[in-house]
Amino acid sequence: MQFLTAHQIQEKFLKFFESKNHLIIKSHSLIPPKDDKSSLFVTSGMHSLKKLFIGQEKSKANRLCNVQKCLRTIDIDGIGDTYHNTFFFMLGNWSIGDYWKKEAIAFAWEFLTQELGLSKDNLYPTYFESDMPDVPTDIEMHKIWLNYLRPHQITGLGKEDNFWSAGPTGPCGPSSEIYYDLGKNKDWCGKCEKPGCSKCGRFLEIWNCAVCMQYNRLENGDLEPLPFTSIDAGAGLERITSVIQGKDNNYDTDLFRPIMDEIAHLTGKNEQENLNSFRIIADHIRAACFLIADGIRPGNLDREYVLRRVLRKLIRKQSLLEAKDDFLTKLADKVIGLYEEWWPEINGNKQMVIDVISAEQEIFAKALERGIKEFHKTVEKIKKSDHPHRNYLTGEEAFYLYETYGIPREIIEEIGLEIGFMSVPTLDFQNAVASHQQKSRESMAGKFKGGLSEEGDVWKKTQFHTTAHLMLEAMRRVLGSHVQQKGQNITDERIRFDFSHPDKLTSIEIEKIENLVNEQIKKDLPVSIAEMSVEEAKKQGAIGVFEDRYGDKIKVYSIGDFSKEICGGPHVERAGQIKGTFKILKEESSSKGVRRVKAIFKSRQFVDT
Ligand code: ALA
Repeated sequence: MQFLTAHQIQEKFLKFFESKNHLIIKSHSLIPPKDDKSSLFVTSGMHSLKKLFIGQEKSKANRLCNVQKCLRTIDIDGIGDTYHNTFFFMLGNWSIGDYWKKEAIAFAWEFLTQELGLSKDNLYPTYFESDMPDVPTDIEMHKIWLNYLRPHQITGLGKEDNFWSAGPTGPCGPSSEIYYDLGKNKDWCGKCEKPGCSKCGRFLEIWNCAVCMQYNRLENGDLEPLPFTSIDAGAGLERITSVIQGKDNNYDTDLFRPIMDEIAHLTGKNEQENLNSFRIIADHIRAACFLIADGIRPGNLDREYVLRRVLRKLIRKQSLLEAKDDFLTKLADKVIGLYEEWWPEINGNKQMVIDVISAEQEIFAKALERGIKEFHKTVEKIKKSDHPHRNYLTGEEAFYLYETYGIPREIIEEIGLEIGFMSVPTLDFQNAVASHQQKSRESMAGKFKGGLSEEGDVWKKTQFHTTAHLMLEAMRRVLGSHVQQKGQNITDERIRFDFSHPDKLTSIEIEKIENLVNEQIKKDLPVSIAEMSVEEAKKQGAIGVFEDRYGDKIKVYSIGDFSKEICGGPHVERAGQIKGTFKILKEESSSKGVRRVKAIFKSRQFVDT
């Protein structure tokens, strides 16, 4: 395997597909086409080509390829691991009604093994093994792979991993992905011998090399066959580069290393001691530069709010690392220098990028300082109150910090966690937003309309909220009754849940918890609510925070006989209303004695994954 820079890999990719008669097309902007409301950002190369797949528009050529700028926000507050980025480059190739599975796999194989020189021993492809009533197992794909590799290297996976769609409706189909085995010798979970283990990073997905576009998902959820079959394929440049350059994370590749070094240089801080902050800064500054260059400005709505969150997180990190005022603009200058040759738009908008970052800093840096002081004042007030041990902010208190100082909720949480506070319950915060909207409907009409990105899909969040109760109880049954909730953050796509437990969960424990939760959903247990005194709740064995934050009478939610927990709601009426299979995606340490899990519903399709 020969060393290549990321830029060389990208050029090789384009040349290779050009030699296979693909037309090289330009990268679309990060803003999706005007009539595509399915996502705030372009999240994959095919985003701007959707109409070609369903035959609504005619393609200039029936073989295309490009390098596309993409932005995915799903894990934005979890950035800092080895291989996720909010902003990344996708190497894409497409057949529009032209070649099909066999050719797609042949191209991917030739590119990886011959052009890049990867050993076939490390390549572990997957195919779709059906867990969907209306789509059969892709036997053809399995057979194709058997021409290249021994059976043990080929894995069948279900809908969550191997059925791809760009959104709830539109072109979709079963897919084949190639994983790279990073090697047995590392400290992985020790059990997995093939892809599909979500708890362990041994097998790195490097290429979704054939989404076999053959269905159109309709509004009512039905699949209808497309007028012709096509191939959509995409590979993350950051990940392929990490493999080629022999690195075990994206930040050590030449796409990030100069940025990481510049952070050390500008702050005088040690990278290893501040690894998480360094990675977040490197990821976010790159995203910010490209977002601004594509014309997005910070604001309170939708994609503008995403940029604002990114910038404010950067400003907070700057303050934590005690960096000078010009830290972020100097770093942006570095990013632009690093990418300007390949991405002329960021050089062309250099001054704009610097100006937008400076302006946001102007607004927020001082407000952040004042907000942090206010936070500490609130803590002092709590200490002097009748409940001096309260270690959380109410939704109202958190909302005040957001509204007055413009501190995004996740930064309020971060500040809180640093002084031993629990995270702000999402629903409490939303209630505060909602009641504020209600109160100020006339005087501030529209100011918060659809804003904050906090509203999302309330019904999905409600389902997650009930699921969180099931999960906590399942954890207590599997791990022991010492387990207590230490914070949670629910979006309409996932639960992030912190709980007290001294050890890393084993994959068996995780499986047991998942099964217990899924069994209760299957049983369609009724959810009931009762108001009672704290004494009565304790007597009945309810779990939760026993303080009178809910008044004299507290609400206790029961899910059948399975769970009983103090809570403010809202919840679904029956567990069966929770749609999808519950799955713990990630388990990690949160702080000393506190573990964190991220959980999703498996059979749901999300745009932004
Ligand atoms: N569009 C497919 C993906 O993003 C290739 O994974």
